[in-house]
Amino acid sequence: MIYLDNAATTYPKPKSVYQSVMKAMTEYGANPGRGSHAMAIEGARVIYETRELMAQLFNLDDPMRVIFTFNATDSLNQAIKGVLNPGDHVITTSMEHNSVLRPVKELEKYGVENTIVQCAPDGRVKVEDIEAAVKSNTRLVVTTHVSNLTGTIMPVEEIGKMCRGKNILYLIDAAQSAGVLDIDMKKHNIDLIAVPGHKGLLGPQGTGALLINCETEIKHLREGGTGSESSSMMQPDFYPDKLEAGTHNLPGIAGLNAGLKYILNKGTKSIYSHENNLLDIFINEMRKNHKIKIYGPEDINGRCGVVPVNIEDIDSSEVAYRLDTEYGIAVRPGLHCAPLAHKTIGTEKKGAVRFGVGPFNKKSDIMAAVKALDEISGI
Ligand code: ALA
Repeated sequence: MIYLDNAATTYPKPKSVYQSVMKAMTEYGANPGRGSHAMAIEGARVIYETRELMAQLFNLDDPMRVIFTFNATDSLNQAIKGVLNPGDHVITTSMEHNSVLRPVKELEKYGVENTIVQCAPDGRVKVEDIEAAVKSNTRLVVTTHVSNLTGTIMPVEEIGKMCRGKNILYLIDAAQSAGVLDIDMKKHNIDLIAVPGHKGLLGPQGTGALLINCETEIKHLREGGTGSESSSMMQPDFYPDKLEAGTHNLPGIAGLNAGLKYILNKGTKSIYSHENNLLDIFINEMRKNHKIKIYGPEDINGRCGVVPVNIEDIDSSEVAYRLDTEYGIAVRPGLHCAPLAHKTIGTEKKGAVRFGVGPFNKKSDIMAAVKALDEISGI
């Protein structure tokens, strides 16, 4: 199988990730932080080290403000619902995934207003349009860093600067950028980042994190055991325990630990440059086929990770089915859980066939995809 669905989850992972999961399960698979024996202590050590690695990658001072979650959706729910109160206003964009749009729309029921800023057909957003949407009760701006549909890179540094100037919290959905683009929470004025562990950070599914770079009160959405303040029936009010109830996903976090070490060792610049070279080749080859429409920014430097395409009026699911069954190529068709983003680029009816590259793809994978698309389109 040629795997070009890395935007949904990366595959394969570095070997060290598989080894680390196995080691956690077979050598110290106790409940971390819930006992004082050697195995529980080793589990807690690995979890704390993973917080440190995460804080290092995103330049966050306090590793205790790295909250482990199940995925980016879980992190986004925690951040959005933890920060907003009735009477508040939140601004987001038309390029968001349902992991942002659904919590934002849900909060309408509880008196939280929202504005969804319209993006351009290539996915780009104007900072001025976000700024123009600010009201006296605007408490939060939440945007994706990189669109999961078009790969468009959003101007997070400028948005962060604008938000900081107006004392508005800025949350980024780094589902497609974490581990690939440089993200510096302090320098870029980012208050909150939601990351999945299983995409660019190369960890297992079922892992994610919310990083907190602000003093704002964040309400907990769940209560339960934390291994701390056990005599109290109230949830602890310190991080990370406040937002982490119940047993951790130790094997997953151990795998994520190895993924983070792989990225810190290799460097995001080198990963980004490898992936963008492959995208550049793919786009340039596709431009030779007049039956194929490519979506997203024209300039390769304005995009990251994915390229969505369509072949004339053929439904995207049919193209993906043929790529899978006839050519052994894995991609994701349809709406990518981002219906407004598809509406923004004009593909809400037939969807698009999304190709997503990862750190282990080679030029030969790209050329096989080009050949397959040429054959399916009949040229
Ligand atoms: N959010 C993931 C995607 O875009 C699953 O495919």
